[in-house]
Amino acid sequence: MRVRNRSNAKERLENNEYVFIEPTINKGNWHNIFNNINPIHLEIGTGKGKFIFNLAKKYPNINFIGLETQPTVLSFLLDKIELESIENLRLILADANNLTDYFDNGEISKIYLNFSDPWPKTKHIKRRLTFKTFLDQYVQVLNDEKRIAQKTDNQNLFEYSLASMTQHGFVIDKISLDLTNSQYEQDNVHTEYEDKFITKGNNIYYVEVIRK
Ligand SMILES: C[S@@+](CC[C@H](N)C(=O)[O-])C[C@H]1O[C@@H](n2cnc3c(N)ncnc32)[C@H](O)[C@@H]1O
Repeated sequence: MRVRNRSNAKERLENNEYVFIEPTINKGNWHNIFNNINPIHLEIGTGKGKFIFNLAKKYPNINFIGLETQPTVLSFLLDKIELESIENLRLILADANNLTDYFDNGEISKIYLNFSDPWPKTKHIKRRLTFKTFLDQYVQVLNDEKRIAQKTDNQNLFEYSLASMTQHGFVIDKISLDLTNSQYEQDNVHTEYEDKFITKGNNIYYVEVIRK
């Protein structure tokens, strides 16, 4: 989805108290930022943020962080927050490559990977968010249950991720090859890409894995 560049996006993000552009400063301190001890859930590759915004409204007793590299797309989530501030939601403008610099061991309770870029070429495999170097970092920052939820319409990425995560010691807790028509749809909060792909008639694949 091509998004026209917003020239003031970075500046707006830098000047908003809900946004963190130097997250390393807050490593180990995120519960203080939320001012409570509720679990913290992290979405990697938040995009325009429909999913995390609605999830945060639905579950006020969970803290949510949206992590995204692109200022323009993240600024669309800022638009929503400026109209309706939500105390249990914060944004980080940064790259998931350095996740363990942003979060302490066990600081996060759940990670969401929604419609992550598939990086179909083998030479780009290391960029997939379920590549082993990312999984190593997820294992570190996640707490006891180590839960990751993934949704995608890309069958190749889904199959790759299932193999990569299970090889990494994760076991499947929930799975659907057609989320939209499954028992899980009732609680499913949609993302921008999900709506777009459903309109196109694509299947949505869904898995939640845990590592004890
Ligand atoms: C295909 S979009 C999906 C957006 C949204 N999750 C949705 O479902 O509508 C993937 C997003 O992940 C972001 N992204 C890709 N790699 C990332 C990384 N290493 N760290 C943080 N965000 C990343 C991209 O900038 C892009 O906005």
